[in-house]
Amino acid sequence: MSRQGPGATLVVGTPTMNERSLKTALSDLPLGELRYLDSVGSTNDEALAWATDGAPDLSLVVTNEQTAGRGRLGRRWFTPPGTALAFSLILRPAPEHRPFVQRTVGLAALAIAEALAARSVAARIKWPNDVLILGRKVAGILVESVWTGEDLDCQVVGVGINVRSASLPHDAHLQFPATSLEHALGAPPDRDALLRATLEKLLALRPSLHTDEFLRKWEHSLAYLGERVIVSGTPGQPHIQGDLIGLDADGSLRLRDEHGEPLKVQFGDVSLRPAA
Ligand code: BTN
Repeated sequence: MSRQGPGATLVVGTPTMNERSLKTALSDLPLGELRYLDSVGSTNDEALAWATDGAPDLSLVVTNEQTAGRGRLGRRWFTPPGTALAFSLILRPAPEHRPFVQRTVGLAALAIAEALAARSVAARIKWPNDVLILGRKVAGILVESVWTGEDLDCQVVGVGINVRSASLPHDAHLQFPATSLEHALGAPPDRDALLRATLEKLLALRPSLHTDEFLRKWEHSLAYLGERVIVSGTPGQPHIQGDLIGLDADGSLRLRDEHGEPLKVQFGDVSLRPAA
Protein backbone atom coordinates (compact mmCIF):
# COMPACT_ATOMS: atom_id res chain seq x y z
CA MET A 1 0.00 0.00 0.00
CA SER A 2 1.27 3.51 -0.64
CA ARG A 3 0.09 7.09 -0.31
CA GLN A 4 1.50 10.42 -1.28
CA GLY A 5 2.99 12.55 1.50
CA PRO A 6 4.46 16.05 1.11
CA GLY A 7 7.34 15.65 -1.32
CA ALA A 8 7.68 11.90 -0.86
CA THR A 9 5.84 8.65 -1.45
CA LEU A 10 5.01 7.02 1.82
CA VAL A 11 4.89 3.26 1.67
CA VAL A 12 2.65 2.12 4.49
CA GLY A 13 3.94 -0.88 6.39
CA THR A 14 2.31 -4.13 7.30
CA PRO A 15 2.88 -5.61 10.76
CA THR A 16 4.73 -8.59 9.31
CA MET A 17 8.32 -8.85 8.16
CA ASN A 18 10.09 -11.72 6.50
CA GLU A 19 13.50 -12.71 5.24
CA ARG A 20 12.48 -12.69 1.58
CA SER A 21 11.09 -9.16 1.54
CA LEU A 22 14.06 -7.96 3.55
CA LYS A 23 16.55 -9.56 1.15
CA THR A 24 14.76 -7.97 -1.80
CA ALA A 25 14.74 -4.54 -0.16
CA LEU A 26 18.46 -4.70 0.65
CA SER A 27 19.63 -6.68 -2.39
CA ASP A 28 21.72 -3.95 -4.03
CA LEU A 29 23.38 -2.61 -0.87
CA PRO A 30 26.99 -3.67 -0.25
CA LEU A 31 26.26 -5.38 3.07
CA GLY A 32 27.82 -8.43 4.70
CA GLU A 33 25.55 -11.32 5.62
CA LEU A 34 21.95 -11.08 6.83
CA ARG A 35 20.20 -12.87 9.69
CA TYR A 36 16.46 -12.36 10.04
CA LEU A 37 14.73 -13.72 13.13
CA ASP A 38 10.98 -13.56 13.77
CA SER A 39 11.74 -13.19 17.46
CA VAL A 40 14.96 -12.90 19.46
CA GLY A 41 16.04 -11.82 22.94
CA SER A 42 18.19 -8.94 21.70
CA THR A 43 19.60 -8.38 18.20
CA ASN A 44 22.70 -6.90 19.86
CA ASP A 45 23.32 -10.13 21.78
CA GLU A 46 22.85 -12.14 18.59
CA ALA A 47 25.20 -9.81 16.66
CA LEU A 48 27.85 -9.80 19.42
CA ALA A 49 27.93 -13.61 19.38
CA TRP A 50 28.03 -13.66 15.58
CA ALA A 51 30.79 -11.03 15.49
CA THR A 52 32.89 -13.11 17.88
CA ASP A 53 32.29 -15.99 15.50
CA GLY A 54 33.74 -14.04 12.54
CA ALA A 55 30.77 -12.30 10.92
CA PRO A 56 32.01 -10.08 8.08
CA ASP A 57 31.89 -6.27 8.13
CA LEU A 58 28.37 -4.86 7.64
CA SER A 59 26.59 -8.06 8.64
CA LEU A 60 23.09 -7.41 9.87
CA VAL A 61 20.67 -8.94 12.38
CA VAL A 62 17.03 -7.90 11.99
CA THR A 63 14.01 -9.00 13.97
CA ASN A 64 10.26 -8.55 14.20
CA GLU A 65 10.24 -8.83 17.99
CA GLN A 66 12.71 -8.60 20.89
CA THR A 67 11.90 -10.28 24.17
CA ALA A 68 14.93 -8.91 26.05
CA GLY A 69 15.87 -5.77 24.13
CA ARG A 70 18.49 -3.64 25.86
CA GLY A 71 18.97 0.11 26.00
CA ARG A 72 21.75 2.26 27.42
CA LEU A 73 22.44 2.42 31.14
CA GLY A 74 21.07 -1.09 31.65
CA ARG A 75 17.55 -0.09 30.65
CA ARG A 76 15.05 -2.32 28.90
CA TRP A 77 14.07 -1.64 25.29
CA PHE A 78 10.58 -2.74 24.27
CA THR A 79 10.03 -4.25 20.82
CA PRO A 80 6.57 -5.83 20.71
CA PRO A 81 5.99 -7.96 17.56
CA GLY A 82 5.32 -6.05 14.35
CA THR A 83 5.60 -2.57 15.83
CA ALA A 84 9.18 -1.38 15.50
CA LEU A 85 12.36 -1.56 13.50
CA ALA A 86 15.03 -3.33 15.52
CA PHE A 87 18.38 -4.26 14.03
CA SER A 88 22.07 -4.58 14.82
CA LEU A 89 24.84 -3.89 12.35
CA ILE A 90 28.36 -5.26 12.76
CA LEU A 91 31.08 -2.75 11.83
CA ARG A 92 34.73 -3.69 11.52
CA PRO A 93 36.56 -0.35 11.49
CA ALA A 94 39.00 0.49 8.71
CA PRO A 95 42.49 1.50 9.95
CA GLU A 96 41.84 5.22 9.32
CA HIS A 97 38.65 5.03 11.37
CA ARG A 98 40.14 3.28 14.41
CA PRO A 99 40.98 6.55 16.23
CA PHE A 100 37.40 7.74 15.59
CA VAL A 101 35.26 4.80 16.68
CA GLN A 102 33.61 6.96 19.35
CA ARG A 103 31.88 8.72 16.46
CA THR A 104 30.03 5.55 15.45
CA VAL A 105 26.99 6.46 17.55
CA GLY A 106 26.87 9.75 15.62
CA LEU A 107 27.10 7.84 12.35
CA ALA A 108 24.00 5.82 13.21
CA ALA A 109 22.12 8.82 14.59
CA LEU A 110 22.87 10.92 11.51
CA ALA A 111 21.83 8.06 9.22
CA ILE A 112 18.47 7.80 10.97
CA ALA A 113 17.96 11.59 10.94
CA GLU A 114 18.80 11.77 7.23
CA ALA A 115 16.52 8.84 6.39
CA LEU A 116 13.69 10.62 8.20
CA ALA A 117 14.49 13.95 6.51
CA ALA A 118 14.03 12.18 3.17
CA ARG A 119 10.45 11.52 4.33
CA SER A 120 10.03 15.19 5.26
CA VAL A 121 10.33 14.43 8.98
CA ALA A 122 12.66 16.83 10.81
CA ALA A 123 14.65 14.90 13.41
CA ARG A 124 17.34 16.06 15.85
CA ILE A 125 19.98 14.06 17.69
CA LYS A 126 19.87 14.11 21.47
CA TRP A 127 23.51 13.39 22.26
CA PRO A 128 24.73 10.79 22.53
CA ASN A 129 22.31 8.17 21.31
CA ASP A 130 18.73 9.33 20.81
CA VAL A 131 16.86 10.68 17.80
CA LEU A 132 14.01 13.08 18.49
CA ILE A 133 11.03 14.33 16.54
CA LEU A 134 9.58 17.54 17.96
CA GLY A 135 11.42 16.91 21.23
CA ARG A 136 10.21 13.33 21.65
CA LYS A 137 12.34 10.22 21.30
CA VAL A 138 11.62 8.16 18.18
CA ALA A 139 14.82 6.08 18.08
CA GLY A 140 17.63 4.87 20.30
CA ILE A 141 21.09 3.53 19.53
CA LEU A 142 23.21 1.13 21.55
CA VAL A 143 26.81 0.70 20.36
CA GLU A 144 28.73 -2.19 21.91
CA SER A 145 32.28 -3.34 21.22
CA VAL A 146 34.04 -6.66 20.81
CA TRP A 147 37.68 -6.62 21.97
CA THR A 148 40.59 -8.96 21.32
CA GLY A 149 42.84 -8.16 24.24
CA GLU A 150 43.57 -4.44 23.98
CA ASP A 151 42.44 -4.19 20.35
CA LEU A 152 38.98 -3.28 19.16
CA ASP A 153 37.77 -6.12 16.96
CA CYS A 154 34.44 -4.67 15.90
CA GLN A 155 31.42 -2.64 16.98
CA VAL A 156 27.79 -3.71 17.08
CA VAL A 157 25.44 -0.85 16.33
CA GLY A 158 21.97 -1.61 17.69
CA VAL A 159 19.13 0.56 16.45
CA GLY A 160 15.54 0.65 17.65
CA ILE A 161 13.01 2.86 15.87
CA ASN A 162 9.44 3.33 17.10
CA VAL A 163 7.47 2.68 13.93
CA ARG A 164 3.96 2.06 15.26
CA SER A 165 2.56 3.83 18.27
CA ALA A 166 2.05 0.37 19.80
CA SER A 167 5.84 0.09 20.11
CA LEU A 168 5.93 2.74 22.83
CA PRO A 169 6.31 1.45 26.36
CA HIS A 170 3.92 2.42 29.09
CA ASP A 171 4.62 5.90 30.53
CA ALA A 172 5.97 4.34 33.72
CA HIS A 173 8.92 2.90 31.75
CA LEU A 174 9.76 6.12 29.92
CA GLN A 175 12.75 8.20 31.00
CA PHE A 176 11.97 10.77 28.32
CA PRO A 177 8.84 11.61 26.25
CA ALA A 178 8.52 9.27 23.24
CA THR A 179 6.83 9.27 19.86
CA SER A 180 6.46 7.04 16.81
CA LEU A 181 6.73 7.42 13.05
CA GLU A 182 3.08 6.42 12.79
CA HIS A 183 2.27 9.53 14.80
CA ALA A 184 4.68 11.78 12.88
CA LEU A 185 3.67 10.60 9.40
CA GLY A 186 0.03 9.76 9.96
CA ALA A 187 0.67 6.10 9.07
CA PRO A 188 3.42 3.62 9.92
CA PRO A 189 6.10 3.41 7.22
CA ASP A 190 7.17 0.10 5.75
CA ARG A 191 9.99 -1.26 7.91
CA ASP A 192 11.94 -2.84 5.03
CA ALA A 193 12.01 0.51 3.23
CA LEU A 194 12.95 2.39 6.39
CA LEU A 195 15.77 -0.04 7.11
CA ARG A 196 17.04 0.28 3.56
CA ALA A 197 16.95 4.08 3.68
CA THR A 198 18.77 4.15 7.03
CA LEU A 199 21.49 1.75 5.84
CA GLU A 200 21.91 3.66 2.59
CA LYS A 201 22.55 6.86 4.55
CA LEU A 202 24.93 5.09 6.92
CA LEU A 203 26.90 3.58 4.04
CA ALA A 204 27.16 6.98 2.37
CA LEU A 205 28.33 8.72 5.56
CA ARG A 206 30.73 6.03 6.77
CA PRO A 207 33.75 6.86 4.55
CA SER A 208 33.79 10.41 6.02
CA LEU A 209 33.68 9.26 9.68
CA HIS A 210 37.18 10.63 10.40
CA THR A 211 36.66 14.02 8.76
CA ASP A 212 35.77 17.46 10.11
CA GLU A 213 32.91 17.52 7.63
CA PHE A 214 31.35 14.55 9.41
CA LEU A 215 31.80 16.17 12.81
CA ARG A 216 30.18 19.42 11.64
CA LYS A 217 27.22 17.51 10.14
CA TRP A 218 26.71 15.64 13.40
CA GLU A 219 27.01 18.88 15.37
CA HIS A 220 24.48 20.70 13.21
CA SER A 221 21.95 17.93 13.78
CA LEU A 222 22.14 18.15 17.57
CA ALA A 223 19.05 18.92 19.59
CA TYR A 224 19.35 21.92 21.97
CA LEU A 225 22.30 23.46 20.08
CA GLY A 226 22.88 26.90 21.63
CA GLU A 227 20.41 26.13 24.44
CA ARG A 228 20.83 25.57 28.16
CA VAL A 229 21.00 21.84 29.04
CA ILE A 230 21.44 19.69 32.13
CA VAL A 231 23.74 16.67 32.06
CA SER A 232 23.27 14.13 34.79
CA GLY A 233 25.13 10.99 35.72
CA THR A 234 28.76 12.16 35.42
CA PRO A 235 30.57 9.94 37.96
CA GLY A 236 31.23 11.71 41.25
CA GLN A 237 29.70 14.96 40.10
CA PRO A 238 26.35 16.70 40.60
CA HIS A 239 24.32 17.68 37.54
CA ILE A 240 26.17 19.92 35.13
CA GLN A 241 24.35 22.83 33.58
CA GLY A 242 25.53 24.86 30.59
CA ASP A 243 24.85 26.06 27.08
CA LEU A 244 25.39 23.39 24.45
CA ILE A 245 27.92 24.77 21.99
CA GLY A 246 29.00 21.73 20.00
CA LEU A 247 31.12 18.60 19.79
CA ASP A 248 34.80 17.88 20.29
CA ALA A 249 36.80 15.81 17.80
CA ASP A 250 36.33 12.71 20.00
CA GLY A 251 32.55 13.14 19.89
CA SER A 252 32.25 14.47 23.43
CA LEU A 253 29.88 17.33 24.12
CA ARG A 254 31.06 20.92 24.55
CA LEU A 255 29.15 23.15 26.95
CA ARG A 256 29.81 26.64 28.30
CA ASP A 257 28.94 27.24 31.92
CA GLU A 258 27.30 30.33 33.39
CA HIS A 259 30.73 32.00 33.79
CA GLY A 260 31.56 31.42 30.14
CA GLU A 261 34.00 28.62 30.99
CA PRO A 262 34.16 25.60 28.63
CA LEU A 263 33.01 22.20 29.93
CA LYS A 264 33.52 18.87 28.23
CA VAL A 265 31.11 15.96 28.74
CA GLN A 266 32.46 12.57 27.73
CA PHE A 267 30.54 9.48 26.74
CA GLY A 268 29.59 7.33 29.66
CA ASP A 269 26.66 6.96 31.94
CA VAL A 270 25.35 10.43 31.20
CA SER A 271 21.90 11.70 30.26
CA LEU A 272 21.07 15.00 28.64
CA ARG A 273 17.91 17.05 28.97
CA PRO A 274 16.86 20.61 28.25
CA ALA A 275 17.11 22.94 31.25
CA ALA A 276 13.73 24.58 30.66
C1 BTN B 1 18.64 3.45 24.12
O1 BTN B 1 17.88 4.33 23.74
O2 BTN B 1 18.94 3.32 25.32
C2 BTN B 1 19.21 2.51 23.11
C3 BTN B 1 18.17 1.56 22.58
C4 BTN B 1 18.74 0.58 21.56
C5 BTN B 1 17.71 -0.45 21.18
C6 BTN B 1 18.18 -1.33 20.06
S1 BTN B 1 16.89 -2.31 19.38
C7 BTN B 1 18.05 -3.25 18.50
C8 BTN B 1 19.23 -3.47 19.40
N1 BTN B 1 19.04 -4.63 20.26
C9 BTN B 1 18.96 -4.29 21.53
O3 BTN B 1 18.80 -5.09 22.48
N2 BTN B 1 19.09 -2.98 21.68
C10 BTN B 1 19.29 -2.32 20.41
